[in-house]
Amino acid sequence: MGGVDLVVVGRALVGGSLVEAAVAVENGRIVGVTSPALAPPAEEVVELGAKRLLLPGMVDLHVHMREPGLEHKEDWRTGSMAAARGGVTCVFDMPNNRPPTNTCERVREKISRARSKSLVDFGVYAGYNPQPAELERCSSEFFGFKLYPDDLYSSGAEEVFRLAAKLRKPVLVHAEDPSRFRPSPLHSEARPPEAELSAARRAVELAALTGAWLHLTHVSTAAVLREASAARVALDITLDATPHHALLNESLYRGPLASIARVNPPLRGEEDREAVYESLRKGVVDAVVTDHAPHQLEEKLSQDPPPGFPGLELALHLLLREVLEGRMPLSVLELYSSRPAALAGLRKGRIAPGFDADLVVVEMREWVVKGSELVSKAKYTPFEGVKLRTATAATYVRGLLVYHEGVFAEKAVGMLVSGGG
Ligand code: DOR
Ligand code: ZN
Repeated sequence: MGGVDLVVVGRALVGGSLVEAAVAVENGRIVGVTSPALAPPAEEVVELGAKRLLLPGMVDLHVHMREPGLEHKEDWRTGSMAAARGGVTCVFDMPNNRPPTNTCERVREKISRARSKSLVDFGVYAGYNPQPAELERCSSEFFGFKLYPDDLYSSGAEEVFRLAAKLRKPVLVHAEDPSRFRPSPLHSEARPPEAELSAARRAVELAALTGAWLHLTHVSTAAVLREASAARVALDITLDATPHHALLNESLYRGPLASIARVNPPLRGEEDREAVYESLRKGVVDAVVTDHAPHQLEEKLSQDPPPGFPGLELALHLLLREVLEGRMPLSVLELYSSRPAALAGLRKGRIAPGFDADLVVVEMREWVVKGSELVSKAKYTPFEGVKLRTATAATYVRGLLVYHEGVFAEKAVGMLVSGGG
């Protein structure tokens, strides 16, 4: 007896490289990172062995857990299981619930449901409210504001930016200008790249006008990456991109996965896809997000399939495949851990003393993605059949084991992480 609560010994991602280390955990925090020979005594010692690695828990700034209101698609239990199985220990949940999460009462209702069901830590966004001042009294309870395409063109959009500037919170913008949509059987033509550029320009104008922190989420075109990179020299602008926009292209809309792969913004042509891929490779964007957007399979196979698909279980392992096959640097993992954590003002996303003991044990093991085997309620994926090289063996949230070899903890240990801004 005595010593720290837990020590994990093995190859760990510390300060940007994989090193042999002993990671000591006490009261949910990392209290020491030493060479294995200097490991302190511990109640429990986990030896990783040759085929396992220790990574920081991933942080996803853009997910849809769907509860309250859309629990037939996902709920905080199943969505957080998907996160834990994907090595994601902290998620930020979007407000397009039924009803939308755009009042203090609804923000609090969501938080209380997440507290009682989530296996991973969480933050929430406030949705568009034409009188956003209503949200000021609970501003410490949500991380930022989210504006959808129609919200950005509503009369209250500027007011949201002004309030965000005052509260020093981000405005996350889904940039697509609905006036640029056109009828086309091909989803990527119906919502063309120009629509994203047009809306991104409007969002940048509002940021310039108000001084607010603008975060453009799921950027999917070369043009927006270029213009936003130029604009951020003078303005407070951050960006994220998804694995699907980096790895898949619009050719899926011409094949059997067309309905499944329907997502907004759409998968793009090869040039835009490559630009997104490069933005991850070079760390031009600030974060990787999944936009985990589960729907029922029956909905996806209907005449008018809703946009979105699950992503939390695969994102880390898709990135690791790029790294292990030599196409991306190891530093791409920072975009899904330390950098989003830093944006949210959290001591998470790094294996370092003083940080939360959010840890993921990754095993070197080949497996083939099958949508039917996902733990999300949404049992399909546009990555069907892709061969991965790693799997999550165990996931710890603040030192608590929430996932281990296919088994999930019963207890909801997830906590609200941040109202910071
Ligand atoms: O693909 C998408 N799915 N894009 C959105 O903007 C919404 C999301 C959803 O909630 O399903
Ligand atoms: Zn989304």
